[in-house]
Amino acid sequence: MRKIGVVGIGHVGVTVAHIIIAQGLADEIVLVDKNPEKLASEELDFRDAASLLDHHVEVHAGTAKDLADAEVVISALGHIELIKPGGDRFTELKANTPEVQQVGSDLKQAGFNGVLIVISNPVDVITGIYQKATGLPANQVFGTGTYLDTARLKRALGDTLAIDPRGISGYMLGEHGDSQFAAWSTVKALGKNADELVKLYNINLDKVAEAARVGGFTVFAGKKYTNFAIAHAAVSLAKLVLSNARREAIVSHYDERFEGYISTPAIIGRDGVTAEFDLQLSDDEKVLLQKSANAIAEKTAAYL
Ligand code: LAC
Repeated sequence: MRKIGVVGIGHVGVTVAHIIIAQGLADEIVLVDKNPEKLASEELDFRDAASLLDHHVEVHAGTAKDLADAEVVISALGHIELIKPGGDRFTELKANTPEVQQVGSDLKQAGFNGVLIVISNPVDVITGIYQKATGLPANQVFGTGTYLDTARLKRALGDTLAIDPRGISGYMLGEHGDSQFAAWSTVKALGKNADELVKLYNINLDKVAEAARVGGFTVFAGKKYTNFAIAHAAVSLAKLVLSNARREAIVSHYDERFEGYISTPAIIGRDGVTAEFDLQLSDDEKVLLQKSANAIAEKTAAYL
């Protein structure tokens, strides 16, 4: 039985659940939310689709207790209403912290021993809080981090080059927030590195990186939340866990070089972060990564 839990059934959680159900990625999905009326409605809406799906999925509303034997739990809880246009994800830290500590301790009490994928913001800090509260080994708790911003970078560069973003490789690193940066030394498209792309196609790398960095708030501006890209990012990572893919991904996890949680390269498989790998970053990029780690630490102190 492939069992997945989704905690926080707002715009993001419901979209995560929808993708999992529509793609048949789980045999059982448990939805958890602090609002019982909303939870019951979402559960029934999904169950009304049961006869129309290509596969059988058990959809249940539940609590953390029901997640004891889940392979993957995805945390999507948050307080998006606290975010201002063009603001900072750290604005959610104070409100999300006690809720995350509660869910984490409930998961611990239930005996959950799977992989916890964290979307809740500010994701770099919240992932660390979850790890402490659940008591899970550090590798079993990671955040979506700049996996999403990396997808935004591919979208922006793909638009510029008029190619499918899936053909682009390379990473956004650091905070899932303002101090993230495009590691251009890692980027390749059409068999060319960033310098060659600039020469051949006259593209402006700074503009492309900026489009990725502010991408979340660009989407937020019109709809006041984001859901589709982040939900696909989380589900894509859940698939790597469920299939023990051991695929490279940039996710937020504990990086001892910075003594904190930040998005750097990882190998994702059955146990979550099964290994790390190093990039040959330029000296400038190494400085930017350290600066981003500093920014996370400074904002954590300022917003808590
Ligand atoms: C975003 C949210 C998930 O960037 O932080 O879309």
